[in-house]
Amino acid sequence: MVLRTTSLFRAAVAAFTAVATCSAQRCAGTTLPLPARNVYQFDSETWIENLAVRPNGDLLLIVDENVTAPVHPVALYQLANPSSANPELTLVHSFDLGTVLGIAEIQPEVYAVLAENFTGNFEAVPGTAKMYTFDFSRGEQPVVNEVATLPDTAIGPDGIAALPGNPNTVLVADMYAARVWAVDITTNTTTTFVQVPEMAQVHNFTQMGINGLRVSHGHLYFTNSDLKSVYRVQLNQCGSGAEASAELVANLTSVTPVFIDDFTIGRDGTLWVTSSGPENVVVAVRPDGRGGFREPIVAAGGINRTDVQGDVGAAFGRGCSDRDVLYVVTNGGLWGAGLGLNQTATEPGKVAAVDTSCF
Ligand SMILES: *[C@@H]1O[C@H](CO)[C@@H](O)[C@H](O)[C@H]1NC(C)=O
Ligand SMILES: *[C@@H]1O[C@H](CO)[C@@H](O)[C@H](O)[C@H]1NC(C)=O
Ligand SMILES: *[C@@H]1O[C@H](CO)[C@@H](O)[C@H](O)[C@H]1NC(C)=O
Ligand SMILES: *[C@@H]1O[C@H](CO)[C@@H](O)[C@H](O)[C@H]1NC(C)=O
Ligand SMILES: *[C@@H]1O[C@H](CO)[C@@H](O)[C@H](O)[C@H]1NC(C)=O
Ligand SMILES: *[C@@H]1O[C@H](CO)[C@@H](O)[C@H](O)[C@H]1NC(C)=O
Ligand SMILES: *[C@@H]1O[C@H](CO)[C@@H](O)[C@H](O)[C@H]1NC(C)=O
Repeated sequence: MVLRTTSLFRAAVAAFTAVATCSAQRCAGTTLPLPARNVYQFDSETWIENLAVRPNGDLLLIVDENVTAPVHPVALYQLANPSSANPELTLVHSFDLGTVLGIAEIQPEVYAVLAENFTGNFEAVPGTAKMYTFDFSRGEQPVVNEVATLPDTAIGPDGIAALPGNPNTVLVADMYAARVWAVDITTNTTTTFVQVPEMAQVHNFTQMGINGLRVSHGHLYFTNSDLKSVYRVQLNQCGSGAEASAELVANLTSVTPVFIDDFTIGRDGTLWVTSSGPENVVVAVRPDGRGGFREPIVAAGGINRTDVQGDVGAAFGRGCSDRDVLYVVTNGGLWGAGLGLNQTATEPGKVAAVDTSCF
């Protein structure tokens, strides 16, 4: 695959200029953990796996609802007006599959969603990992299409990401095949995009390697859950993926010794990493101004706090009023508890808003 760095650059510039007209937030200083409030919480044990933020500020949530029931609803929901006191939740689509894994905006107002049936330890049932698109560009009722079925070689697909400049490609992190797939949504083909040793797990604990995925400033960033580390691969070296090499950008072992899940990247380049249970924290890793990163800091939550308990995904708001709000989605701590780790209390999954404006 030939990558066009110029279009990557243009996409990055566009993303920045889109918010350039907002006035600066006033900050009176703050202490850690950062203040967080509940935006919306389900009534029963629910796993909100990930989210995307629409240009109008509404949140799209991919959800396993009533997750402890053997057969449970798996759905895309919209949460409108997340800044208000009473956000409205509406069902957009129900999937006839066992779980939803990733969501990413791949074209303006077009969102790719990955869903599958899975067996023990989150492995895909062969032939059931499917990519869908939800096109909101022509109205509030999205056009839904099933666009690809991943091959049986995709064993543990999880996080997905758009590839700026390539609107028909969706990148898929595979925890067990330890690579990134490129799914072409127009041809229904899946090829290896990049595979490096740092995408594999090594400790045989959860067996989960590469998990979250983001493209930013010409790099593909990814988390490795087992290694509790964030890495990046330079995109313009990936033309023949096998030759790419990964650079360690942050090792979170000292603050999240058990697990890390997904992450997002702020406007200033800070990495915001979710831990899931049992740590229940969001970790921030600031850029050092020289192309590298500083030491990780626990920015939100805490092992015995419920602010972001069971945090599995995060994304920033897109409006002037919430562009410094980190929306965090949770599974309520179900997974840490389910693993037999020592965090046993759970709560229904929720969307929390962490105010990062003073960070
Ligand atoms: C989830 O479970 C709750 C409580 O049992 C129930 O009220 C609700 O209708 C269920 N939701 C769905 C979508 O099945
Ligand atoms: C996934 O599992 C559900 C529930 O068992 C079943 O109804 C559905 O047909 C399965 N989907 C595929 C693609 O196998
Ligand atoms: C994609 O390809 C797979 C395997 O060839 C096939 O089973 C599936 O029906 C195709 N899906 C779509 C949406 O074209
Ligand atoms: C992980 O499992 C593999 C295969 O069973 C084994 O070869 C390896 O030694 C194990 N690694 C650790 C760190 O236990
Ligand atoms: C991360 O740091 C820990 C010590 O805190 C160390 O044992 C581990 O090897 C480091 N991981 C990587 C990928 O460098
Ligand atoms: C969390 O709570 C447990 C049980 O009460 C306690 O043993 C532990 O020290 C607490 N940890 C922190 C970091 O407060
Ligand atoms: C959980 O167990 C770890 C390792 O034994 C310990 O360091 C930590 O304090 C425990 N946390 C709680 C909440 O009990």
